[in-house]
Amino acid sequence: MENKQKIVIAEVGRHLGESVTFGCWLTRRRSSGKIQFLQLRDGTGYIQGVLVKEEVPEQVWEEASRLTQESSLYITGVVREDPRSPSGFELSVTGVEVIQVTQDYPITPKEHGVDFLMDNRHLWLRAPRQRAILKIRAQIISAVQSFFDERGFTLVDPPILTPSSAEGTTELFHIKYFDEDAYLTQSGQLYMEAAAMALGKVYSFGPTFRAEKSKTRRHLIEFWMIEPEMAFVDHEENLRVQEQFVSHVVGEVLKNCRPELETLGRDIAALERVKPPFPRITYDQAIDMLKELGMELPWGEDFGAPHETALAEKFDRPMFITHYPTGIKAFYMKPDPNRPEVVLCADMIAPEGYGEIIGGSQRIDDPELMEQRFKEHDLSSEAYQWYMDLRRYGTVPHSGFGLGLERTVAWICGLDHVRETIPFPRMLYRLYP
Ligand code: 4AD
Repeated sequence: MENKQKIVIAEVGRHLGESVTFGCWLTRRRSSGKIQFLQLRDGTGYIQGVLVKEEVPEQVWEEASRLTQESSLYITGVVREDPRSPSGFELSVTGVEVIQVTQDYPITPKEHGVDFLMDNRHLWLRAPRQRAILKIRAQIISAVQSFFDERGFTLVDPPILTPSSAEGTTELFHIKYFDEDAYLTQSGQLYMEAAAMALGKVYSFGPTFRAEKSKTRRHLIEFWMIEPEMAFVDHEENLRVQEQFVSHVVGEVLKNCRPELETLGRDIAALERVKPPFPRITYDQAIDMLKELGMELPWGEDFGAPHETALAEKFDRPMFITHYPTGIKAFYMKPDPNRPEVVLCADMIAPEGYGEIIGGSQRIDDPELMEQRFKEHDLSSEAYQWYMDLRRYGTVPHSGFGLGLERTVAWICGLDHVRETIPFPRMLYRLYP
C-alpha cells in the first residue's frame, strides 16, 4: 500500500464519496455468503466495511474471507454515509491487503474472568471500553496541565529515588543505591515545597510508589500523582484552588470525551453537577454524621473507605473533610492556631462512592515546631536538614495537595476498580505483563 495516501478512520468524514486506504485490525467478520461485513478499528475509531461478492474481484473476496479476529490489514474502499452506523459512515470495500491472519486470539467476544483479562492486559487494551478509558485518562492529564499552565504554575519534576520518606515509613519500597539505602518516592511534596520557595507556584506530575499490602479496589502500588505547591497560600485558598481544579478537569472531559463517556455508560448528569463551591465538613462534623448513620467512631480514629462512602452519599458533588486530628495526619501539616489538636488539612472525597481523590494541607512553616515534629515522628532530623532549610531561610505560609490520577480516572469514568485506569497496573501480586 506504499503508493497510496493513507488516512485514519477518525478522518473518514472528510472523504465522503472518495476512495481511501487505511491500516486496521478486524474485530469481527460476518458473512451471508453474498455479502461480508467487516468490523474494523485502527485506534482512532471504528467503521464497518461491506463487500458485495458480485461487485468485487474474486481475489478481494477471498482475501477478506481469510480474516479472523485481530488480523491486521490495509483496506481500500469508498466512504459512504450510513445513518445506522455509530460513526455515521460505512466503507464499500474495493481492496484488501492482509498483513497477518491472526490465529487463536485469546480474548474472544465471550465473557472472560478478571484474572484472565489482567494476564492479557497487553491485548485487553484493544477493547473499545479500555480504549475509551485511556482516551479519558489522556484528556484528564491534558486538562491538569492546562489548568496549572494557564494560572502561572511552573511544572517541576521531583526525583523518583529518594533518601527518606514523605508520607510515613511503613509503605516504602527499599532499594540499594550503590552503598546507600534509597527508596522509591511516595510523594514529591517535600521537593515541591523547595521548588515553591524558588518559583512561587509549582506542580509536579509523576509516578509514586507505595508498598501497601492493601488489596482493595482503590489501591495501586504504582500510581501517578499531581502535586501542586503554592507559596503564600493558606488552607482556605488551597481548598478554592482544588475545587476549581477538579471542576475544570471534569468540564474538559465532558467537553472533549462525550463518545468515550457514552461507551462506558457513564451518568453524564452526575458529572455535570461538579461545580464549585464543594461542600465542606470538619472531621468533628463527620464523626457526628457517622454516629447518626450508626457508624460510631471514637474521636482520633481515621476513616476507612466505608465511612468516606457513607459521608459522600449525603452530597451530589465532591466534598471536603477538613481539620483532622493531628495524631492521624502527616508530620508536616500545620496545626490550626485556634485548636492545635487538629491540622489545617483536607481530603477531597469524590461522590458516588469513589472515595478520596485528594489529600492536602497547609504546611508547618515554623522551624521550631518542625524540629519538634521530627522527634515526635521518630524521623532523623539529619536526613531532613535540607527540608529544615526551607524553614530557616525565608520561611513563608504555604500549602499544597496531591490528586491521585487513577482514582480520579475511576470516578470520572465510573469504574468499580482502579485496575482499569492505568495501562499496566501494578498491584499486590500483579507485576505481569
Ligand atoms: O493523601 P496522600 O497520601 O497525600 C500525599 O501523598 C501528599 N504528600 C500529597 C501532597 O500534599 N502533595 O495521597 C494523595 C492522593 C490520595 O488522595 C489518592 O487519590 C492517591 O493519592 N493515592 C493513591 N492512589 C492509588 N493507590 C494508592 N495506593 C494511593 N495512595 C494515595
